[in-house]
Amino acid sequence: MTQDGAPTSSSTQCSSGKGGTRRRDVLATVTAGVGCAGACALAYPFLDSLNGTRNSRVGEDDTVDVDLSAIPPGQQTVVTWRGWPVFVQRRTAAMLASLQAPGAAQRLRDPESKILQQPKDATNWHRSVVPEIGVLIGICTHLGCVPSYDTPSPADQSGKYACPCHGSQFDIAGRAYKNAPAPYNLPVPPVTMVSETHLRIGLSKGDPDFDIANIQQI
Ligand code: FES
Repeated sequence: MTQDGAPTSSSTQCSSGKGGTRRRDVLATVTAGVGCAGACALAYPFLDSLNGTRNSRVGEDDTVDVDLSAIPPGQQTVVTWRGWPVFVQRRTAAMLASLQAPGAAQRLRDPESKILQQPKDATNWHRSVVPEIGVLIGICTHLGCVPSYDTPSPADQSGKYACPCHGSQFDIAGRAYKNAPAPYNLPVPPVTMVSETHLRIGLSKGDPDFDIANIQQI
């Protein structure tokens, strides 16, 4: 896995967005001792572990290009866009099948992505522009920790994200599971496929009016 840049302060792990700002501020105050401090302590090792070949380019126009050919099937790379960690996954057929498995939707808070947490062209069952490539902002919608990626294994080929702070879990499309604190799905940034092997984060041809500042919560 790779990462361009690194957070410069704990605010990267404990950021706030539109809808949940007030609630999160209150929660952050209440849980500052065990929440954000624990979050950052756990999140930094995760980010620190993201070493490897850089495979993205930061444009002068607030976009980041990612070379998809460097990502093995079932794995992800992590790049930075607007200071946020962004997970870019190459999904296998088994991972895609898990998103539509019988009973999967019943375990999710917002299985159809009705809440504005993604552009229109990612408001679909795979929450992405093309099914085989997933792109998610890696900020837990509870209190802003960085979820870790559980890669597919022979026992569980679906893969998932788990937040190290208070136990929230998300499926491979970033959809939040019920019975855990994260109230919303992980945000999806604007994305355009430039070619079969390159995507651009920060630009949505499918939803040109999309503004990440208008989503429910980061
Ligand atoms: S920050 Fe609390 S579960 Fe993720």
